[in-house]
Amino acid sequence: MSLTSLKNLSRFLRQGLKDILVFGNQLVAENGNVFSVDMFLIKYHLFLDPKFIKHVLIDHKDSYTREVFIESVIFEHALGKYSLFTSSDQIWKQDRIIANRLFNEIAVNNHIHSLTTTISKELDEWKSYAKENKPLNIHTAINIISMKSILTAAFADININQESSLTLMSGLSDFFAYNKSALYIMLFNKAFLLISPHHRKIRKRLWRLGDELVAKSLASESTENNIVRKLADEYHKQNTTKNMHERLRSEALSIFIGGQETTTSIMVRACVYFSLYPLILQKIREEVAAVIGDNQITQENFVKLNYTRAFVQEILRLHPPVFTIPRLALKDDNIGQYKVAKGDVVFIPNYQIHRMPEYWDNPEGFNPERFLGPHSERNKFCYLPFGAGERVCVGRHLAFAEMLVTITLIVQRYNLSLTMTSSLKHENLFLNRLNRDVMMMVQEREPGK
Ligand code: HEM
Repeated sequence: MSLTSLKNLSRFLRQGLKDILVFGNQLVAENGNVFSVDMFLIKYHLFLDPKFIKHVLIDHKDSYTREVFIESVIFEHALGKYSLFTSSDQIWKQDRIIANRLFNEIAVNNHIHSLTTTISKELDEWKSYAKENKPLNIHTAINIISMKSILTAAFADININQESSLTLMSGLSDFFAYNKSALYIMLFNKAFLLISPHHRKIRKRLWRLGDELVAKSLASESTENNIVRKLADEYHKQNTTKNMHERLRSEALSIFIGGQETTTSIMVRACVYFSLYPLILQKIREEVAAVIGDNQITQENFVKLNYTRAFVQEILRLHPPVFTIPRLALKDDNIGQYKVAKGDVVFIPNYQIHRMPEYWDNPEGFNPERFLGPHSERNKFCYLPFGAGERVCVGRHLAFAEMLVTITLIVQRYNLSLTMTSSLKHENLFLNRLNRDVMMMVQEREPGK
């Protein structure tokens, strides 16, 4: 191992594990748009150039896989090896086709009514906080909405134990967090997870939850909003029922987990923006009043919430919950003169890409209007909150539906303000999100005001 490689490892341990985003900013400032770093026997390439990104995610996608070292080890331990996150072969293809059908834009828009009903019911719970003038933990409150939305749209609206699932979900970021496990996993690989009592215990609870999602979904009559039943029917049709239970559990967990902290992180930030930037809130309220008014949210009016959508897009630009997209090179590859060797890791750091002055005017400024203009001018490989190519986030349309419905209902019904004691910190260990103890005061709005 070279001296540089050891020096880089020591720097990663000192700075990267403290704040991976600040560390990424420093590397990019020092090295530019395309560069590599040798660290602990592995070469890491960071690509911020759209041409390079397109090459990896689209044009030469078969030379790369998602199953990157730390991600694959931890994800496989948590979800099993048959999930959309952890597999890349025929199994992935078969499941992805079914998931694409269930979560494409048209299918998701059919769920607007049921999502509105589910989210409205959860928002009713906020009334008691308003009446009693009690601070609301916004992360927990929004997390419940995310969980209920995913159960409504993907798991036949089944009931599961809310409290234990929530604790489990919010504990997952710590489970995945690089600072807790990265070094051990680098040194001991999978063995660490198998001997770590903490990781074994969480996996046991996760798999129990996965079993519950599978059993209850299979027992339900509903099919249109039932990923488990759709997958099971397909396995029977194609005669691919080998390891069926493990496959269903892995996929149930990947959809359930994929849709939790990601959407929660964006919606919590939206609520915080409402408290900090009244002018933005006012614009959203004006749009909601003009487009929805006193009517129900429908498939037709929902698509006209242009400013609200741009507001969410701008939060996703500045604060992408998944802040880098990793790939492992399966073979040697050339991008022009630039060489990537088999076994090298490529990172596409969307957090930094979304803040590059080359691609964005006033990159640090919060300006939803930038998403209202003609999009054709912007290179789509400079905006990657959901990734791109065939591994693009399967839940992106559902995420937007859920986020827009939630935001619309919140601004119609409540005023939110940060409590005096709330301090905002960024936690960037696995997902990029705010600290989980942000408290907000809730005030009911008078109808029509
Ligand atoms: C704001 C919300 C969300 C963000 C920012 C987000 C972001 C991402 C990103 C960046 C990827 C990886 C793409 C890649 O490696 O190329 C991904 C994959 C994935 N996401 Fe999401 N996601 C969100 C919501 C959801 C929801 C609601 C679901 C549930 C339906 C979901 C399920 C998944 C799954 C299963 C994958 C793996 C897909 C595959 O590899 O085939 N995500 N997401």
